[in-house]
Amino acid sequence: MNLVLLGPPGAGKGTQAERISSIYGVPHISTGDIFRDNLKRGTELGRKAKEYMDRGELVPDEVVIGIVRDRLAEPDCDRGFILDGFPRTAAQADALKAMLAETGKAIDHVLNVQVPEEVVVQRLTARRTCRSCGKVFHLVFDPPAREDTCDACGGELYCRDDDREDTVRARLREYEAKTSPLIDYYQREGLLRNINGAASMEEVLQEIRAVVDK
Ligand code: AP5
Ligand code: MG
Ligand code: ZN
Repeated sequence: MNLVLLGPPGAGKGTQAERISSIYGVPHISTGDIFRDNLKRGTELGRKAKEYMDRGELVPDEVVIGIVRDRLAEPDCDRGFILDGFPRTAAQADALKAMLAETGKAIDHVLNVQVPEEVVVQRLTARRTCRSCGKVFHLVFDPPAREDTCDACGGELYCRDDDREDTVRARLREYEAKTSPLIDYYQREGLLRNINGAASMEEVLQEIRAVVDK
C-alpha cells in the first residue's frame, strides 16, 4: 500500500498518517518531521532547512528528493509507505515516480485532504507538538490532559515556530503556488482521491479507509 497525503498546512495529514500507519502497519514518512528531527539533533541539514521553514517557504527540491530517496530504500518500506508532505512540487512528483519505477513500485492513491483556509489557521495556531516524541495535539479538538505536557511520554508541548499566523499565511501562499498544481497532475494520472478534511478526525479516517480498502 503506497500512499501520498496531499493537502495544505493543517489539513490533518500528520494526524491521519499516524492512524493509517498503525492500522495498516506501514511507515509514516513526513519530510517536515525529518527536518524537525534534524534540527533538534543540530545537523547541517536541520540548520539549512530551518532557514526556509521559518519563512514558510519550501526547502529546495534537490535537498528533499535525496532524503526521500534514502528513506524509501529502507527495508520497512517494502510493504508500503505513507508519504506525508512529499511531493510538494511537480519536480518532486516526477522524481518520486522515477525512483519508484526503478524498484518496480508505484503510488496506489493520492489522498487530497481538502480544508478551507480559515480552518487551517484555527487548527495551526492551537496545535501543540511534543518536543520529545513529536505527538500532535490541539488545544480544542484533541486536548492533552495538561496543557503543556504530552499524554504519551510526559514531554514538553510547544507551538511550532512556523505556526504563527503570519508564517501560516506564507505557507498557504507557497502551497497555492507550488503544491496545488499537483492536484491536476495526479488527477491526470488517475490517482487523485478527494477527502473532506474539514470533518472530524474520525470521519476523515473512515473516508480514507473506505478508499484504501476498496
Ligand atoms: P510540514 O511539517 O509537512 O508542515 P505542513 O505541510 O505545513 O503541514 P502541517 O504539519 O502543518 O499540517 P498537517 O496537515 O500535518 O496537520 P496536522 O495533522 O498536524 O512541513 C513544514 C515545512 O517543512 C514546510 O513549510 C517546508 O518548509 C518544509 N518541507 C516539508 N516537506 C517539504 C517538501 N516536500 N518540499 C519542500 N519543503 C518541505 O493537524 C493540524 C492540527 O489540527 C493539529 O493540532 C491536529 O490535532 C488538528 N486536527 C487534525 N485533524 C483535525 C480534524 N479533522 N478536526 C479538528 N482538528 C484536527
Ligand atoms: Mg504535519
Ligand atoms: Zn511526547
